[in-house]
Parts: sequence; structure tokens; C-alpha cells
Amino acid sequence: MSIQLINPSDSRPLTTGTDGLSDGDKLVFPYKNGAYRIVEDDNYTENFGYQWNKFVGTQVDKVSNLDISKVRFFAETGWDKEDLTGKNILEVGSGAGRFSQIILDFTKGNLYSVDYSNAVEANFKNNGPNDRFHLFQASIYDMPFMPGQFDKVVCVGVLQHTPDVEKSVKTLISMVKPGGELVVDFYPIRGWWTKVHAKYFLRRWTKKMSNEKLYKRIENNIDWMIKATRFFSRIGLGRIVNRFIPICDIEGTIPRNLPPGQLREICILDTFDMFSPEYDQPQRISTVDGWFRKYGMTNVWSGFIPFDNCSAAVVKGKKP
Ligand SMILES: C[S@@+](CC[C@H](N)C(=O)[O-])C[C@H]1O[C@@H](n2cnc3c(N)ncnc32)[C@H](O)[C@@H]1O
Repeated sequence: MSIQLINPSDSRPLTTGTDGLSDGDKLVFPYKNGAYRIVEDDNYTENFGYQWNKFVGTQVDKVSNLDISKVRFFAETGWDKEDLTGKNILEVGSGAGRFSQIILDFTKGNLYSVDYSNAVEANFKNNGPNDRFHLFQASIYDMPFMPGQFDKVVCVGVLQHTPDVEKSVKTLISMVKPGGELVVDFYPIRGWWTKVHAKYFLRRWTKKMSNEKLYKRIENNIDWMIKATRFFSRIGLGRIVNRFIPICDIEGTIPRNLPPGQLREICILDTFDMFSPEYDQPQRISTVDGWFRKYGMTNVWSGFIPFDNCSAAVVKGKKP
């Protein structure tokens, strides 16, 4: 690996081996099922480990035969495929690896992917083994990399699920090398109505449910919820009424014209994803933009980026 690995707890250099990461002669972090394990599974992202190992390929383009992850990735980052050849890219919160796949299959960059949960196993099933791919189960706050080494850092769909979003942004910035770039997206606060939503009312209970129970509840109710959402959209009341139906945002976050089976599976996944996380902290775009500047980024751009029938709140910037 061309990236210098360190032990996040004492900053001592680590070397890679077949059985894990070593500090001198001693094995410090094991390698298991495709990933170096800096942490164990019993942390606040355990729901994501369950989710991504259940829906391993659902959002992965090469499995679903769609191009939703590819379109979203290049729309949000604006990165040029050729320009990434040989570059060191850090992806934080990689989940089942839908964007890892895009980076590995459409660029010749070296990818370092981190996730706090056991989703790393799903990611490895989708994308490993590959000499350009290095997977770590670690927290954004304690990553095993010496700061300032990455040409590109990307963090998509993650920030709102971390406990301290400002600290998460600061840590991501610390990973970018001078001249490098960071791109993040997150759930936006669009106005006072953002949290007037079935999700924010019900989450206080659903996030405490066991994964199996929550999954079953959603699966048993998904069909009538899809029908109801479609009905209210058809009669022009979708924007007002659908936020009170406890299902993911079908019109705003899922591409149109999916075959019914695929739509149903994505709806179950996205609904589980909205009810199970410990943290769900949408942010104002101006706040995240302000953190980029506060922690030294230049050429900061922020706003909504459209793709398919969806749009994402994105902030990007360069390290001087
Ligand atoms: C909604 S998923 C998004 C996954 C992937 N980026 C995607 O878009 O499909 C959020 C991911 O962030 C990870 N995550 C949450 N907190 C984290 C932390 N502190 N450090 C690293 N990853 C974290 C979760 O484990 C989860 O896989």
C-alpha cells in the first residue's frame, strides 16, 4: 500500500500482512473476511451491518443492472475518470460498496474504503479481491491513516448518521492532501418542515427495535405504503400527504420506471435505512459549507446536484 497506515490510538506506523496490521512484530488489528478490523461490530452502526449484509447487491449497479450509483457518483463528485488513474481515493462510510464498485470499475484509482460496521463484508463480496482495493472496518473519528495523504476523499450518505457532524467533516478534511479534494453529501434541512415527517416521529421507537422485528414490520407493510404513496402523488397531494406515510421518499430519492420487484426491494431497504439508524441529523447546506471554510478548504462549492429524478445536498472543496 502506498498510503502510510497508523494505529489511530497512538499514531505508530503499521505494516500490512496476510493476517492483519502489525506494529513492529506484533499483530495489532486482524484481517477478517476481506477487511482490516480496527474496531469490532458492537457499536452504534450495528443496524447498518445487518442492513448491508441483507441487501448486499440491491444498490450495486453491476448486480442490479441499473446505473443509479454511477450516475449519482459522477454527478456529485464531478470527477474525471481518467484523472483518477493512480490517485489515492478515500471513501468513508462505504456500506455495501455501491460507490466502491463505481470507483474500482470505472477508474484506475487506488481505493481505501472505511465503514464502522460489518458492512465491510458485503462490500468485499461485491468488490473484492482487487489489488487496488483496501477495506477497513473503522470509525471516521479513528481512521488508520496518517493525515494529509489522499488526493480525493468522498463521503456519501453518511454524515447525517454520525454523532458529531462537524467533527466528521473536520476529520475528513484532515485526510486530504494539499491540492486534494473532498466531496460530501448529506440530508439537507430544507426548512421548518424537514422534521415534520413520520420518520422523525416514529424513529424514537423504531431505532430501538431489533433489526429482525423492524425488518418484518416494514416488509409486511411495504405494499400498501407504495400504493398509497403512488395514489396521493397521482392526485397531486403527494408532497403534503406522503410525508405522513412511514415509507422512504419514493418520488424524490428512487429512480423512476423500476420494475415492481426491484422497486419493492429498494423501498424495503431505504425504509429500513430511515428507521434503524441511531443518528439522523440533517444539516443546513450553509452550515456544512461554513465548516469547510473554517477548517481551511478553498474553492468551496455547495448546493443541490440533480441526478435522475433525485437531487443531493453536496459540499466540495480543495485543500490549499
Ligand atoms: C446510509 S449508509 C451509506 C452507505 C454508502 N455510502 C451508500 O451510499 O450506499 C451509511 C454508512 O455510514 C456508516 N457509518 C456511520 N457512522 C460511521 C462512522 N462513525 N465511521 C464510519 N462509517 C460510519 C454506516 O455503517 C453505514 O454503512
